[in-house]
Amino acid sequence: MPNAAANIGVVGLAVMGSNLARNLASREGNTVAVYNRSRAKTDELVAAHPEAGFLPAFSYEEFAASLSTPRTAIIMVKAGAGTDAVIDELVKVFEPGDIIVDGGNAYFPDTIRRERAVRETGINFVGAGISGGEEGALTGPSIMPGGSDESWVTLGPILKSIAAVAEGEPCVTHVGHDGAGHFVKMVHNGIEYADMQLIAEAYDLIRRGTGKSPAEIAEIFAEWNRGELESYLIEITAEVLRQVDAATGEPLVDVIVDQAGAKGTGAWTVQTALALGVPVSGIAEATFARSLSSHPEQRAAAAGLPGPSEAFRVVDEDAFIEDVRLALYASKIVAYSQGFDEIRAGAAEYGWNIDLGAISKIWRGGCIIRAQFLNRIAEAYAQTPDLPVLMTAPYFAEALTRGQDAWRRVVIAAAQAGIPAPAFSSSLSYYDGIRAERLPAALVQGQRDFFGAHTYRRIDKPGTFHTLWSGDRTEVEAEDTH
Ligand SMILES: NC(=O)c1ccc[n+]([C@@H]2O[C@H](COP(=O)([O-])OP(=O)(O)OC[C@H]3O[C@@H](n4cnc5c(N)ncnc54)[C@H](OP(=O)(O)O)[C@@H]3O)[C@@H](O)[C@H]2O)c1
Repeated sequence: MPNAAANIGVVGLAVMGSNLARNLASREGNTVAVYNRSRAKTDELVAAHPEAGFLPAFSYEEFAASLSTPRTAIIMVKAGAGTDAVIDELVKVFEPGDIIVDGGNAYFPDTIRRERAVRETGINFVGAGISGGEEGALTGPSIMPGGSDESWVTLGPILKSIAAVAEGEPCVTHVGHDGAGHFVKMVHNGIEYADMQLIAEAYDLIRRGTGKSPAEIAEIFAEWNRGELESYLIEITAEVLRQVDAATGEPLVDVIVDQAGAKGTGAWTVQTALALGVPVSGIAEATFARSLSSHPEQRAAAAGLPGPSEAFRVVDEDAFIEDVRLALYASKIVAYSQGFDEIRAGAAEYGWNIDLGAISKIWRGGCIIRAQFLNRIAEAYAQTPDLPVLMTAPYFAEALTRGQDAWRRVVIAAAQAGIPAPAFSSSLSYYDGIRAERLPAALVQGQRDFFGAHTYRRIDKPGTFHTLWSGDRTEVEAEDTH
């Protein structure tokens, strides 16, 4: 049995766990214990990376004995039953004050449940969202830990040692208690869905509107990446569009089946937003767009339905492309504003004290949505911490003011051309809805009162009212009618 000399351990040595263990081992001051259910992965990792000085363990008892106290272990196993199985084993060999971290992609209600159960043993449980995939795990991910303040004292320096660094700051912060970290990671992924869909719509509009080739559009994205849209996703979009398929000589994007997959975090973000009553229409449309693409039988059946009777033609290509850029930026602002709204609402619902500016900062490096743009969000919350709607911050309001006419032209063009742009158009509708002085919700209230006596409030006096619709249609104070 090894000496108790490791300050951190990793359980689960598949792609993510092995890379995270190597990242940990490469940082000054860390000694890493490693354990995997099946022995082969442990042997392979230790043999392949002697420089890491791993302390391999082949049972949970050995693993616990190899860790100095408070014992700290990061679980990187298949989310769901695998995570529960490992927690059950670790709880048997760990002691009060020790720390179990789940770095997998857990659904935040599971993290809340696990934290509550593990806390009863006196052991700390931390759900930590880790973004950045395989490469991020090795070179520096963005990390979103929840859990107790006590666990953060030990865990904070370790996670700071392995996180990505953006403008000199590690991309990790103590997000909030219990499930807060996995909640924020979930919304991060939802925003990622929206950002990707908006970029895909911009590409489709330019391609079908101007007839430009993927390689030509790649150059447009590369150019955009030098301006306010600068981001990892714009950068890789140019790379993807540039790629030529070796087998056919065609642009790779043209030989890829047009059905987008999903692992579920977008759907979780939308389901949670529905439960919280937060309109995340950009994320929802992006998630539904993937669903729509993935029903080939329905698409084949609907393919004969007619498109616009008049052919669509872009008159001024350069002006149209600039309009699409402005529309993309405006829609992106809406998507992030909605995502941060969901985090704000989740924090209120679950009692988490989440610093929204700090969240935008830890997304600047290591994760898929990393972008300069996130600095503007941090500035907005620094200026006004209780900002009710992110996109009303001066910087974003100015960008929306500058872009809104172009945005409208692009949505009109998409409708006229019969090009689907669900995220562009729903974002514009959200913008017009949230800024409207008066909404037709008043009529909806009237309808609800008519068929269900659901009552309504009046603009000119306090109280709750119901109209006697079938009689002389007089109005009565609702309290009097029930
Ligand atoms: N891949 C990514 O880009 C990415 C990005 C962010 C987060 N994540 C999350 O990180 C976690 C790990 O991902 P991954 O792709 O490296 O691995 P994975 O394929 O999700 O899971 C494989 C690992 O889980 C272990 N495992 C499964 N069931 C177990 C059980 N009942 N008891 C003990 N161990 C069990 C396996 O052990 P055996 O070797 O014994 O089978 C193996 O080490 C997941 O939660 C994933 O969602 C992944």
